[in-house]
Amino acid sequence: MSPKGQNDRIKTYVKGLDAVLQGGIPRNSIVLLAGSPGTMKSSLGYYILYHNALEDGKKGVYISLEESRDSLLRGMEGLGMDWTRVSKNLSILDIGLIRNRLAELDRHGWMEVFKIYVRNLRRNLENEFLVIDSMAVLETMAEMDNPRKELFKFFAWLRNLEVTTFLIYEMPYNKVRFTDSGEGFLTDGIIHLELRREGNNVNLYLSVMKMRRTNHSRDYFPLLYVDSFELVRG
Ligand SMILES: Nc1ncnc2c1ncn2[C@@H]1O[C@H](COP(=O)(O)OP(=O)(O)OP(=O)(O)O)[C@@H](O)[C@H]1O
Ligand SMILES: [Mg+2]
Repeated sequence: MSPKGQNDRIKTYVKGLDAVLQGGIPRNSIVLLAGSPGTMKSSLGYYILYHNALEDGKKGVYISLEESRDSLLRGMEGLGMDWTRVSKNLSILDIGLIRNRLAELDRHGWMEVFKIYVRNLRRNLENEFLVIDSMAVLETMAEMDNPRKELFKFFAWLRNLEVTTFLIYEMPYNKVRFTDSGEGFLTDGIIHLELRREGNNVNLYLSVMKMRRTNHSRDYFPLLYVDSFELVRG
């Protein structure tokens, strides 16, 4: 692969996954991290930002609309990811921090204010990565009258932001299901995390369901976390 080609891809740092993705995720893609409760969606989103900050000094912003910043950081510490090691490059915001800002601007709708906020972060921090955890909460907060149209506009806005974005996307257990609002079509990539019961064990699997500009396998591979994420490829 040419040096330019390599630069155009973002490493996930998940062992085995970057090879499946021909080196990584195309830069400035919008990618859904989709899965049922407890499939380590937040952990995976955080892991990608954490390792890009740690190994490459690349900046990321993680917006947790659901879980508090403290709870998220405690979980990540439990996985051996110490935020203080990357605090220069990785900003973690939760709904509490955002709400403080929203109060100043209550004459606009929630979505407009959210966009102004994220745009300002981008300008000030020059982050290359963004995680929004989760889409379900964002859509609830935004109280969209016409979700399909408003999400279409939101994705167009995200593209203009020129960051690689991971959207945490909730799915029911044992089902691949997207809402009618079009998230599955509007994104460049979908990484699906799935828990499977096998005898008395419940194991985690990962599939790249979709990744534009990438020739990839759609197989479900076991995903392990020991000191880092690792795909087990037969
Ligand atoms: N070392 C580990 N190996 C495997 N699984 C782990 C490990 N540490 C924590 N977990 C599991 O990860 C889960 C939490 O991960 P995370 O919060 O990222 O999932 P999530 O998909 O974002 O969940 P939610 O649906 O609640 O948002 C816990 O339920 C825990 O069982
Ligand atoms: Mg989560």
